Amino acid sequence: MTTRARIASAAYQAKVTSADAAAAMIGRGSTVGMSGFTGSGYPKAVPQALAAQIEAAHTAGDPFRIRVWTGASTGPELDGALAKADGIEFRLPYNSDPIAREKINRGEMDYFDMHLSQVAPMAWEGFLGPLDVAVIEVAGIREDGSLIPSSSVGNNKTWIDRAEKVILEVNAWQSEALEGMHDIYYGTALPPNRVPIPLTRPEDRIGEPYFRCDPDKVVAVVETEAPDRNAPFSPPDATARAIAGHLMEFFRHEVARGRLPANLLPLQSGVGNIANAVLTGLADGPFDQLTAYTEVLQDGMLDLISSGKLKMASATAFSLSPDAAEQLNAEMAAFRDKILLRPQEISNHPEVIRRLGCIAMNGMIEADIFGSVNSTHVMGSRIQNGIGGSGDFARNAYVSIFMSPSTAKNGAISAIVPKASHVDHINQDVQVIVTEQGLADLRGLSPRQRAKAIIETCAHPDYRPMLQDYFDRARQGSYGQQSPTLLNEALSWHQRYVETGSMRPHP
Ligand code: COA
Repeated sequence: MTTRARIASAAYQAKVTSADAAAAMIGRGSTVGMSGFTGSGYPKAVPQALAAQIEAAHTAGDPFRIRVWTGASTGPELDGALAKADGIEFRLPYNSDPIAREKINRGEMDYFDMHLSQVAPMAWEGFLGPLDVAVIEVAGIREDGSLIPSSSVGNNKTWIDRAEKVILEVNAWQSEALEGMHDIYYGTALPPNRVPIPLTRPEDRIGEPYFRCDPDKVVAVVETEAPDRNAPFSPPDATARAIAGHLMEFFRHEVARGRLPANLLPLQSGVGNIANAVLTGLADGPFDQLTAYTEVLQDGMLDLISSGKLKMASATAFSLSPDAAEQLNAEMAAFRDKILLRPQEISNHPEVIRRLGCIAMNGMIEADIFGSVNSTHVMGSRIQNGIGGSGDFARNAYVSIFMSPSTAKNGAISAIVPKASHVDHINQDVQVIVTEQGLADLRGLSPRQRAKAIIETCAHPDYRPMLQDYFDRARQGSYGQQSPTLLNEALSWHQRYVETGSMRPHP
């Protein structure tokens, strides 16, 4: 079907225009709510046209920048192009674009890294300020003016409702069979009128398949036919397979002890290669009739659905390799009854996560010996991506698991450290830590017991004696013994890396 045929409403057809003309409707200094979540469903033409206009303004000596709100990460045509043009003054809530990351880390762009479930409520509460324009990719426009969502839902409902003006990109690359896969819930309200979210199983439908949109706010409709550009996953290496193996053993053990049902509980799997590898481990594992209540659907989730192991998955977006995205587009109809895409305030809703009892599995930068986790800041100050949904899930999960290789940068860095250089997840929100070395079950352990388990089970053998030595001395010299810490020494490993390129002491 052509792009034009995807626009069934005559009123909207009359608003079709070029990306350039649409971008020119975004005023200087505007706050713009863009669609897009983990590289899917983001607008592709208008942000590039806007970036070109910003570059031209820079050249003419009359620069301007905008404020960008999204669902989560987007793609090079949005964050990459606008950051390259030095066009973003402020960005929320999650970024993984390398050019934008560099700008943020050079202090040239303000970045509010926040829990993804909190973005829409905070926007409604007025805490984030007014929203001037929404630029939203859709898979089509229906005759009655309702919008068929694209490959991510994210915050689109909120951006469409809150923005003064709406620009739509209708992308014919997106599969038409996406129609019907979405569940857009319009029942949220602000305190004191908030009511329970009526969702008790991952497969429950509580909303409608389309976005409502006031046609009077729509100022432009732009036709595109461009793919979501997600990065390929690395095939699971020995480290990732070992992590997956430890987790499978843990799940088997929990089922045997009667602490998890035979088909486990709804899975949440985070972003990144390790998370994807764990899903591959589940495909080879003994568990059937699985469900997922998660944020993103990676290649591994689709494989689990195809193999029949995963009954259904609820999420807010796809996060696929280019190959998997093409394949999904070709076979979308077969997946339609097994996938539900929801607004991120619902996919990540603390109340629902707690009720369903999700098994949260997220990647981390580092954990300290007491189990506090750093998901975001390398050496305590350089942002990698952001907290994303990891906090939404970790605090409210039935079991909260964090995983990482035990070392980074070819062994120059230990992922288990005396003290996390930045804390996203306090030790109370971290119940299991797993590296390729082993899995530490921290439930019910005191800080000193946790330290013993983490050092002995998760640390790399190259760093284990150093950690043990540090902890033994902290047992002697610490101000208190609840969480023994040598304040002057606790972050010296990170400082040594910053100064010498390795956490190992120089000979
Ligand atoms: N110290 C320094 N750098 C580290 C590190 C550490 N302890 N651990 C990882 N890194 C670096 C890696 O070297 C790599 O750098 P590179 O891109 O220069 O090669 C980068 O961080 C990514 O690490 P990688 O091993 O590829 O991990 P990943 O793809 O599994 O991602 C996180 C790990 C933590 C970055 C990722 O899980 C994340 O962003 N998490 C936060 C958001 C989240 O959890 N969302 C899920 C909610 S649904």
